[in-house]
Amino acid sequence: MTIDSTQAVKPSASVVACCSAVYGSPLAELLVGDSLHPGGLESTRDLLRAARLEPGAQLLDVGCGLGASAQIAAAEFGLRVDAVDANGPVLARARTRAGDLRVHWTTAALPDLPFDDGSFDAVLAECVLSTVDRGPALAEIARSLRPGGALLLSDVEVIGDPLPALGHRIIGAALCVTNAWRPGEIDDRLPEAGFRIIDRWDRSTSILTLIDRIEARLAVARLAVRDLGLDLRALIGPSATYTDEIPTPELTRELIESVRAAVRDGTLRYTAVVAVGGDAA
Ligand SMILES: C[S@@+](CC[C@H](N)C(=O)[O-])C[C@H]1O[C@@H](n2cnc3c(N)ncnc32)[C@H](O)[C@@H]1O
Repeated sequence: MTIDSTQAVKPSASVVACCSAVYGSPLAELLVGDSLHPGGLESTRDLLRAARLEPGAQLLDVGCGLGASAQIAAAEFGLRVDAVDANGPVLARARTRAGDLRVHWTTAALPDLPFDDGSFDAVLAECVLSTVDRGPALAEIARSLRPGGALLLSDVEVIGDPLPALGHRIIGAALCVTNAWRPGEIDDRLPEAGFRIIDRWDRSTSILTLIDRIEARLAVARLAVRDLGLDLRALIGPSATYTDEIPTPELTRELIESVRAAVRDGTLRYTAVVAVGGDAA
């Protein structure tokens, strides 16, 4: 069975809150690192290179997480960067980590960005549109871009049947599959929001790399729990209300294997897209 793009659903408030809480937890950073998407900063650099922005151009990193992408956009590409995230504590950590780099950090949530129309030359959206209601979010991104500005998108697509991981709130959110893009949805939704896709590439194998890293770090965390008495549940943080949902080792292995199989058979993909919007498109 395939799922067509019309089946994409509006994510519930609890899914969005769960995603934000998962990425706000130190456990997520421990398992994934500070670049919270498959492909890490190499994927980010590819997108920024493809956009061919001049030093000094204005970039918005929306759903910036811990701010690793925003930092390299400023430090390596010389961009003037605004970075926003819906999760206040995450944003505060991003600001602290960045030090005095030229990034302006703001707590804000799609689809309501606190910027004037046409403020940005480009908007970077890595693994965030898979966590929000995409129609209004894309309209808001289009509004904040100048005519001809670029949307730099990388995100998860689920091509076939929903994965078992979709049914687990923590794992589903951690892999951005809870509300992943459906087949054809990128091609439908971006033009609807006024964007024209000019470049696109597949980074699905980076999901495997990420899964390998999570699995290795989980193994180390388990050793720490067993041998050093680390309280893994405490690492989830007080904001989470579902600490009893931490997957068991057996379930984790099952979910991780199902994700690996889905990448291998092409039903789970990670796609990067550069699209230009507005009158100058
Ligand atoms: C998978 S993480 C990606 C973080 C970052 N883009 C990266 O790749 O490292 C998703 C981020 O989107 C944020 N987020 C979720 N819903 C959001 C919304 N409606 N507006 C802005 N940020 C949101 C979460 O708090 C989380 O930090």
